[in-house]
Amino acid sequence: MAKMTGHKESNEQEFQGQVVSRLNAEISKRSLGLDIATQEKPQKTTGKRSDLIVWIDRPATIAFLAIELKTPTTPINDPTFFKDALEKGRHWKAKYFALWNMRDFELYETTNPPHNPVPSDAIRKSTHPLALSHVEDWLKPNFKKDLHAQAIEIFDAAVVHSVSGLGHQHAIDPDIFVARLTESIGQLRTIFYKDLKRASGTDRKLRKRLKQIAAEQGFEGFVDDIDYAIAGQIGYRYIGQILFYFALRRKIPTLKEIEIGPKDALPAALKPYWDEVRRYDYEALFKPEPIEALVPVAKEAQTILRGLILQLGAYDWASLTDDVLGSIFEHLIPRGQQILLGQFYTPRPVADLLVASTIDGERPFVLDPGCGSGTFLMSAYAYLAHVANLSHKELLSIIWGFDVSPFAAELAVINLYRQDMAEYENFPRINVGNFFARNSKETLDFPAPQQASGMKKVPIPIPTFDSIVGNPPTCAHKTKMILILNTERSCSKQP
Ligand SMILES: C[S@@+](CC[C@H](N)C(=O)[O-])C[C@H]1O[C@@H](n2cnc3c(N)ncnc32)[C@H](O)[C@@H]1O
Repeated sequence: MAKMTGHKESNEQEFQGQVVSRLNAEISKRSLGLDIATQEKPQKTTGKRSDLIVWIDRPATIAFLAIELKTPTTPINDPTFFKDALEKGRHWKAKYFALWNMRDFELYETTNPPHNPVPSDAIRKSTHPLALSHVEDWLKPNFKKDLHAQAIEIFDAAVVHSVSGLGHQHAIDPDIFVARLTESIGQLRTIFYKDLKRASGTDRKLRKRLKQIAAEQGFEGFVDDIDYAIAGQIGYRYIGQILFYFALRRKIPTLKEIEIGPKDALPAALKPYWDEVRRYDYEALFKPEPIEALVPVAKEAQTILRGLILQLGAYDWASLTDDVLGSIFEHLIPRGQQILLGQFYTPRPVADLLVASTIDGERPFVLDPGCGSGTFLMSAYAYLAHVANLSHKELLSIIWGFDVSPFAAELAVINLYRQDMAEYENFPRINVGNFFARNSKETLDFPAPQQASGMKKVPIPIPTFDSIVGNPPTCAHKTKMILILNTERSCSKQP
């Protein structure tokens, strides 16, 4: 930008301040789940002028829109202008960025490298350029009014795009999607970790409970920091629930759109939505679990969840293909993270080998009594899909998993569900609980197999299993065992 006089600079600052007030008036007038508009200190590399940011949550630094404002002397198609604006959007991790030279504007969705938007990707461009030629023109009453209207037009275009999901010119990129989710999970984990550490430092009962959870799930003594593993599990649980709910709405349109106001407390405000899903199934994901009550969900964490719901609501889920969504679920937890979450999973090739040498028969009932994220169950699914002519629904009815960890059970549900996301009747037989507390005469509620709507749950007896396959938790003496058991053929425990 040209060197400015002190006078010009103060005019510009004042103009920006006015825009911020105008945007704030708009934000407080409407219930959009947005927080505030502010002028932020610029990055060292990008000039003197403050950055104009609209926030989903200012304290949690979740930005919605970053506007790169230049004077009318900078052409809207100046490549440096575009580059600066994109950099700003990325720097503030804003969902949208805009270029605005007080005459024209362009609005874009912020993408992560290596995906660089190009001008033809603009969500909206100004249709009526203003006739300003100098920055001081904003002081003229007619221009002042038009400029304020233009600021609101930029803001509106971003809000409409975000809320309706309309105007998407690109398929959702799973990498970017997963990157956003991972970021939210990371932020949540940090907050839960801090709160768990603080609370368990003074609360002996809580410390004991955390140790008990670690012992139950078999990761006590294996992870460096139990609190960190459990904080991660809580974060994943909430994000998994939200993501899965959005995915389910594609198949069950009667599930309501999540509407959370800025003042609604989370997770309490989500309960009615979760209860509605549980009328269908998915208890393993949506039943309240003690792990969620270990620490209250701090305000900052609530804001992250609220922001995520707003962001997910902006996608056009109906046009999201099953394979893209499947890939999102598949990559939600990077392999390296799993150990930090206290989960020790068997590598898939090992599970495949064990499954192939264990499962027998056309329609065997298969169980993993400590199924974790469902590696053995997925392997059994693939094996039976290959050797027996069974539908997704039939496969799910014979492949069962238990896990004492709600987090693991949630992943197992998601992993079996995503094997065929086109199928409406998609109810994995996963149960959260202690395997040793189950008995063969017991029944568990699942949607009736013949129920086309899946609406009515019926008690289904735990079957007599033909094959039990899995990788049980580490024993007290810390040696690992792999269990291969075919109830008719063999029974062996291999150290
Ligand atoms: C070593 S992991 C194996 C997970 C999965 N089978 C695999 O191989 O990838 C053991 C799992 O058993 C679960 N578990 C431990 N004790 C259990 C119990 N009594 N009932 C059910 N699940 C249990 C743990 O939560 C953990 O997810």
